[in-house]
This record gives sequence, structure tokens and C-alpha cells, in this order.
Amino acid sequence: MEVKVISGDITKVKVDAAIVNLFEGVEHPGGATRAVDQALGGTISRLIGEGEIKGKLSEVTLIHTMGKMEPERVVVAGLGKQDKLTYDSIRGVMAATCRFLRKVGAKRVATVVHGAGAGGLDVEKAVQALTEGTILGLYTFRKHVTKEPEHGEIEELLIVEWDESKVPSLESSVRRGRVLAESTNFARDMINEPANYMTPSDMAEVAREVAADGGLEFNVLEREEMGKLEMGALLGVAQGSKQPPKLIVMGYRGGDPEASPLGLIGKGLTFDSGGISIKPSEGMDEMKGDMAGGAAVIAAMRAIAELRPRINVTGIVPATENLSGGAALKPGDVLKAMNGKTIEVVNTDAEGRLILADAICYARKLGLAPLIDVATLTGACRIALGDICTGALGNDQELVDRVIKSGEQVGEKIWQLPMYEEYKEQNKSEVADIKNTGGRYGGTITAAQFLAEFSEGTPWVHLDIAGPSFINKEQSYLIKGATGVAVRTLVNVALVLAGEQPE
Ligand code: BES
Ligand code: MN
Ligand code: ZN
Repeated sequence: MEVKVISGDITKVKVDAAIVNLFEGVEHPGGATRAVDQALGGTISRLIGEGEIKGKLSEVTLIHTMGKMEPERVVVAGLGKQDKLTYDSIRGVMAATCRFLRKVGAKRVATVVHGAGAGGLDVEKAVQALTEGTILGLYTFRKHVTKEPEHGEIEELLIVEWDESKVPSLESSVRRGRVLAESTNFARDMINEPANYMTPSDMAEVAREVAADGGLEFNVLEREEMGKLEMGALLGVAQGSKQPPKLIVMGYRGGDPEASPLGLIGKGLTFDSGGISIKPSEGMDEMKGDMAGGAAVIAAMRAIAELRPRINVTGIVPATENLSGGAALKPGDVLKAMNGKTIEVVNTDAEGRLILADAICYARKLGLAPLIDVATLTGACRIALGDICTGALGNDQELVDRVIKSGEQVGEKIWQLPMYEEYKEQNKSEVADIKNTGGRYGGTITAAQFLAEFSEGTPWVHLDIAGPSFINKEQSYLIKGATGVAVRTLVNVALVLAGEQPE
């Protein structure tokens, strides 16, 4: 879909549908809604008076213009209560409205900038949000469906702004919104892809293409190099599968060559059966999405390569399957990670922390700092926070705060969990330095305490996305299936650290 900014009068553009808006409780609309109402001879006011249009958040009312103005149709989109309006509600409104318009067959759509008038929002940020909401909300994954789709696609969105002088700055807002949303959809595609189409080798190939297109440094470590580096934990998880593991490394250099790059690390479990500690079969198919953290990192690198902030960023994705083949890791086995620490594998289903341990060691060896890892790590985090927000834990409060704030700015909710020393007790092993599970209680925290043994003194934040990475029903601009969560947060953190996005 193309997104363009034009200046002028929305009643005069030749489109299949024009989107205007209404706050809840407003009886006499102003601005563009008023202009459209007048051109339609008061139809909108009448529908408000009759109670058909209420202005509730994401309410959609379709009116055919019957030649009274250039657009074939007008949609009045509800913005909800004026004092509750946020940039995230604008994303949701555009998603709901454009999904509706797609069903009625609209190809060319125009919209006003919601919230920039009476809503009091910043016009540039509102334009970015409405671009994001539209592209994210129209996402579908139909790659393996051979049946014809029931609807076509919206081909063009025109954002209509009165003030011509604002057009150039709004074009860069559109660009930023488009890059963030398309990169999120790129992650969604990788995650929704079944595990037989998204093996560790496939993931490495996708990353290679992203790197080639974006001019990024690129490297993949194979089993042999992992052996030389003594990545016993990653190799241990990989040994139960025929698919060779890959450690994907992508580098973006936009900052001072002397400055240490921001390190983004993503769990790339392309299928997690649990291994010998096998998972129940019900819902196991969802574990094709256990590489959502890795996909988020690759997609964030894609966006960073396009936005070119003045900062250095390196993305690392340990990619493997966790299967129960004849050579598989067994409960009770002991592994040695790259930093020399030994790990008793109590449960082979706690594999994410094993592969991340070596990836974090490798990131430190490369001199990356600070570090942010993203992983579908624990079912416990999903139990604690549901699918609404990501869990954050770390060893540097300032960094944790920055990541949470960066998430807030892009509409991704992140909630911090504690890292009290006392939890370390649960990870103690009698046969090795540490064990890979700390029991049922506080499972997200003990998993993070495990990772902390490998990030050691480097400032680090761990994002557990087990809850929000995958949803079972549509929520606003998030479509059922993979959400692509964390892509926008990671990119925004890079922009904030580069000083290109105010905190
Ligand atoms: N990939 C899972 C966590 C997960 C569960 C992600 C549900 C998304 C949805 C992870 O590898 C895992 O199996 N964790 C175990 C750890 C336990 C054995 C300590 C879990 O959460 O049950
Ligand atoms: Mn597992
Ligand atoms: Zn897993």
C-alpha cells in the first residue's frame, strides 16, 4: 500500500472513501467533519441526533455520498472520549476503519489527521501513528492458502492536511511509520511461517537478504565455529535435531566507530517441542513461534538500516530447533557455556535460556553494550501478565526505564518484574555451577536470574514476550497469530539512544 500526504480539502479528493472523525458526546462536529457534513446537507448531524453515530472508539459509520461530493463514500470514525485519546487509539481507529473499507472493496482511501485538531495531539506523531495503524491493521498471512481471498486490498492511503507548509515534515512521519509497521509485518511473516518453512537455515537466509538490502555487516556462525568458541549450551540444545544451528550476526554502523554498539539478542527457537522433557501435544503447533524474539531482532535491524540513526547496533540471533532425536540432550546432562560456567539441564524444555546464555557471552566478546535480549522465554510470564504486556527484567535500572519508556512511545506495554538476589537460590545446582530451571514459582524471574549469570557486569535488559508475541483473537491493530511485538520498541530504543527521538 502507498501512503501519501497531500494538502487540500478532503471533500474534493477523488477517492473510494474519505475518513473523518467524531469524539464521543460531540453533537456539533467542527473541522473537516463539519465541512463534510455541510457538503452532505447535514446527514452526519442528523445521524448524531438520532443516536446512530455516537463517536465511540473505533465505531465505523458508512455514508454513501451519492454525488454530493468527490469521495464516493464517507466514513465517520469514532475517536472515543476526547480526554482519553492517545496515539495508540489512533492506530486502532485506522486499523478498524481500513479493515472495514477493505471489505466493502475500497481501493483508494483518504483520511484527515485524527486527533491533530480538537484532540490536541502533535500532528507529526499523529500522522506516524495513523500510518502504523493502517499498515499493521491490514496485515494478513495467506501464503499457504490457495483459495482466492474474499476481499481485495486498499492500494492507496492519502493523508489530507490543510496546511501545505506542513507536508514535507509529515512525509518523514509517514516514512518512519511505514518503516516501523512494515518491519513489524516482516517479523509477523517470519513468525507465522510454519517451522518446516522457517528452519534455522531459512532464518539465516532471511537475515542475509535483510543485510544485503540494508547494507549491513553479516555473518553466520556454523556448528564448527560454535564448537571452537565452546558454545556448549547452544550446541547442547541443537544436538537433538537434524537441522544445523545457526548463530546469526548483523551489524549496523551509523555512529562513532569507537562507540560500543547496542546489542540486540533474540531467541530463535524455530520449533520448541520441549525435547526429551516433551511438551503436551495440545497447542504444541504454537511453538513454531518460539523464534519471535529472533524475528523481532532481524526485523528491527531491517528498520534501523532504513532509518539510519547515528548509532552502532549489532543483532545476534541464536537459531535452532529443540527436538528429541536420538542424540538429544537428556535431563541431568551437564553443559559448559562459552564463559566456562557449567549448567545442569534439569529440564530440556528450558532451552531458551541455554541458547541465550551463549549468545549473551558472544555479544560480550564482541564488546556490545548495553544488551537487550528478547525471548518467548517462559510460560510463567504469560500466566503473570497475559498477552497484553511484555515482562522486563535487568541489571541496570536506568536502562530498564528507558526500554519501558521507549515501548510506551510506540504503544507496546512493558512491565518490570523484580530481580531480588533471593531468587538465585532456586537456580542452585549440586552437580554444576547452576541449573536451568528454578522450579514453578517465580519462573520468569529465575529464568532472568539465570541469564544474568552470563550478562555479568554488562548493562542488560531481558524482555520476556511469551505472552504478547502470539494472540488468539484480533486486538485493535494486532491480528490473530503473531503480533511482531518488540520490533517497534527495539527500533525506538535505538532512535532514543541515538538522540533522534526525544525520551
Ligand atoms: N518457549 C517456551 C515458553 C513459552 C511457553 C513461550 C508458552 C510461549 C508460550 C520455553 O522454552 C519453555 O518451554 N519454558 C518452560 C520453562 C520451564 C521448563 C522451566 C515453561 O515455561 O514451561
Ligand atoms: Mn521450551
Ligand atoms: Zn522455548
